[in-house]
Amino acid sequence: MLILNKTTGVFSNLSKGKNYEFLRSFNIQPGKLFLHKLVLGIETSCDDTAAAVVDETGNVLGEAIHSQTEVHLKTGGIIPPVAQQLHRENIQRIVQEALSASKVSPSELSAVATTVKPGLALSLGVGLFFSLQLVDQFKKPFIPIHHMEAHALTIRLTNKVEFPFLVLLISGGHCLLALVRGVSDFLLLGKSLDIAPGDMLDKVARRLSLIKHPECSTMSGGKAIEHLSKQGNKLHFDFKPPMQRAKNCDFSFSGLQHVIDKTIMQKEKEEGIEKGQILSSAADIAAAVQHTVACHIAKRTHRAILFCKQRDLLCQSNAVLVVSGGVASNLYIRKALEVVTNATQCTLLCPPPRLCTDNGIMIA
Ligand code: KG4
Ligand code: ZN
Repeated sequence: MLILNKTTGVFSNLSKGKNYEFLRSFNIQPGKLFLHKLVLGIETSCDDTAAAVVDETGNVLGEAIHSQTEVHLKTGGIIPPVAQQLHRENIQRIVQEALSASKVSPSELSAVATTVKPGLALSLGVGLFFSLQLVDQFKKPFIPIHHMEAHALTIRLTNKVEFPFLVLLISGGHCLLALVRGVSDFLLLGKSLDIAPGDMLDKVARRLSLIKHPECSTMSGGKAIEHLSKQGNKLHFDFKPPMQRAKNCDFSFSGLQHVIDKTIMQKEKEEGIEKGQILSSAADIAAAVQHTVACHIAKRTHRAILFCKQRDLLCQSNAVLVVSGGVASNLYIRKALEVVTNATQCTLLCPPPRLCTDNGIMIA
């Protein structure tokens, strides 16, 4: 019997016994033959209900996502029971849409993979409960997924990246630097001691009432800050990057956020406006905030690269820094990181924006 050889992509002859063993590892339905194992990935750790079907070679067969951003923007932040309710209302439809887009039925899956940690407990619970019912009904294996590990490995779907590599995850809920030595072998080099950069940018954007700004009303806080920064002058305010003397790779954003809050309050007094109205200097503040956040992230990352190079922990011929998470879509922050990677002879890689943020593909 002729079958497709997975690794070489050519047809080859196998002995009869081996044929059956080989074929058993695939999903064969009448009239349908999938040449690779199929995994359904389900993500509900925060405020996105997402699902995708990916095969073992990394081909994405189909995906679906429901974002709760609009709802949470109105309430000024994520309220866990609200996020849980929205996940409950959408999970069935999103999984169905991902399967339909993939033209795959649940019985054709090889396994179901679901985020089990870290995240909001109420949100995680919805995905987990749904997945356990599904695997029970269709008698499929269940693969528990660590959300951060999935983020860190996503780059391997789009780029040929060998282990080890350095990863920087920066989003609304995450902030860490880690050395990725293998699929489940991570060395944590640094993390935020308080809040994540996206969380801080969201809080500053809220304090500046950017949701009332005609150009920013539908944007996340971080995106609104990036957008407004282009119209501002970063030199009009002087915020100091945090932890300049700390001899480690950790981050901190809440002290900086308090300093910015105080400055905004001061400016409101000077301009004689109430809290909730937009300052004439909002764009300048946004530009200075973005610059300071970029400096802080770049400096900590620089330390991590130097640490790894000193101890020969990265690939000598091609040291790679992967940057992912919602904040990684900020082009100013990327530029700052590019300066660092150019100076240290590293390659900077970022997954495309839709894979930087939470999605079902990275879980599958
Ligand atoms: O990865 P993500 O979608 O969700 C998690 O937090 O896991 O990231 C969302 C975060 C939000 O805090 C948002 O303000 C921030 O990423 N963000 C940005 C930009 N776009 C989204 N921050 C800076 N610049 C952006 N362009
Ligand atoms: Zn995430």
